Amino acid sequence: MQTFDQTKSEAFAERMLDILNSGAIALMTSIGHRTGLFDTLAGLPPSTSQQIADAAGLNERYVREWLGAMVTGRIIEYDPVTDAYSLPPEYAAFLTRSASPNNIAVTAQFLPLLATVEDQVIECFYKGGGVPYSAYKRFHQVMAEDSGQTVVAALEEFVLPLVPGLTKDLEKGIDVLDVGCGSGRALIEMAKHFPNSRFKGYDISQEAIATAQSEASHQGLNNIQFQVKDAAKLDEVEQYDLICTFDAVHDQARPDVVLHGIYQALRPDGIYLMQDIRASSNVHGNMDHPSAPLLYTISCLHCMTVSLAAGGMGLGAVWGEEKALEMLTDAGFTTAEIKRLEHDFLNNYYIVKKN
Ligand SMILES: C[S@@+](CC[C@H](N)C(=O)[O-])C[C@H]1O[C@@H](n2cnc3c(N)ncnc32)[C@H](O)[C@@H]1O
Repeated sequence: MQTFDQTKSEAFAERMLDILNSGAIALMTSIGHRTGLFDTLAGLPPSTSQQIADAAGLNERYVREWLGAMVTGRIIEYDPVTDAYSLPPEYAAFLTRSASPNNIAVTAQFLPLLATVEDQVIECFYKGGGVPYSAYKRFHQVMAEDSGQTVVAALEEFVLPLVPGLTKDLEKGIDVLDVGCGSGRALIEMAKHFPNSRFKGYDISQEAIATAQSEASHQGLNNIQFQVKDAAKLDEVEQYDLICTFDAVHDQARPDVVLHGIYQALRPDGIYLMQDIRASSNVHGNMDHPSAPLLYTISCLHCMTVSLAAGGMGLGAVWGEEKALEMLTDAGFTTAEIKRLEHDFLNNYYIVKKN
């Protein structure tokens, strides 16, 4: 018979309370980002709730309640004598727009975003199937903001140099495709820096492609094209020197077909650069992963379910290195090297060769 450890049980209850508080603070962190409250606070001396609300152009009563959560959550400091609130610069360094690419408040937005589909996901627990991409009102916006920090900000300095000689080739002029390009920020960044190269971006989302096209034309770029296209129907043969996917394989309906299409679309000496979640394919291999619960949650309420909604494989965000390498081999690739960047503990960068 199993014994009941009273101390273990009480410690767990305390932990659950802590989890509830942390979840609540995460939600308020998202609100602090979207309302600009963190940015406002970072630019103010210690101020009253009315002064903060005025500076942010927000309703004081709501701001005061938000401040209550943030003060008791030990994010904002409060002096009861002067009735003044302040955001320590050490915390502003991870919560403000000017702190980007280290603005963790950007990532906090995923939690309320996922909660918008909770009812539909619960239905799927009973009936199977999935929640389609179209159900997420702010997905592309939040995704672009998030990958803008992890990938785009690091592109020239860290990501592209992972492939020996790639920067030089891009300077000379090559053909580049970004599959599942979303709002196109990574490709636009490359197109700006490498005017001799030609860039193409495909995504199945009309909304994301419209954003990408409008930003590219706003920037006056003429070496870039965006197209609404299903990545499972690439149907191109030996057209590109470099194909990239940034966080865009694991939530595909048919990632196997997409990877094979990428293999075919690459020129014989081409490179496939696949950025995807760093994790093990086995749950027990993720016990020490710093963000495993967050990743499985994002997967269940987005990555896995959008794939299942399209009748797909439902790999999920935590498909892991072992599965990724197996699928790259199955797609026909001969070598795949996994590289990592110090600033980006969430992602692996697979440098994949056709031959
Ligand atoms: C996690 S997001 C990553 C977007 C972008 N690469 C980034 O890093 O911001 C995955 C993208 O894949 C796109 N996608 C999903 N299924 C697709 C398909 N079958 N064909 C093309 N794009 C697809 C989604 O619309 C979404 O923009």
